[in-house]
Amino acid sequence: MTTPSAEAVIRALGLEQHVEGGFYRRTFQADDRDPIMTRYGERFLMTSIHYLLTDTSPVGHFHLNRSDIVHYFHLGDPIEYFLIHPDGKLERVVMGPNVTRGQRLQLTVQGGTWKASRLLSGTSGYGLISEAVSPGFDFADMTLGKRTGLIELFPQHSVLIEALTRH
Ligand code: GUN
Repeated sequence: MTTPSAEAVIRALGLEQHVEGGFYRRTFQADDRDPIMTRYGERFLMTSIHYLLTDTSPVGHFHLNRSDIVHYFHLGDPIEYFLIHPDGKLERVVMGPNVTRGQRLQLTVQGGTWKASRLLSGTSGYGLISEAVSPGFDFADMTLGKRTGLIELFPQHSVLIEALTRH
């Protein structure tokens, strides 16, 4: 099978632009189960999305979710993830198919962790993952990182934050 283009993947999966950067579509929400009550209101027990980074939109900019998120790599080029934990510790993880070289098929990010992602160069021009979010995703639980505020919080990571924030 020849590798499909990013445009073909976006069309086939019905993806739209995400505010973080990249493209996404919700593929599941737990409609048939009781919602879960959080401190911030009712949420689906779980939601899931496809998420795609491409050569034309290669960065998922720094943001923070309250929920835990499990990421699953599917297709294409590797994606590097930068996680800043609440104590300021920086973690870099590469998701990709090359498991014998330390690339990961799964990555769990705990709620309260700042996260950014960036497509690494490869032969496809895109990388496709899925995310399972619990309690289910709600925009009220997500904070997009602002460059100056994030640098104030984590001055030791200012170069990275400069590169992976939009505003
Ligand atoms: N990030 C993780 N899950 C979701 C979702 O369901 N919707 C949006 N917009 N972003 C997400």
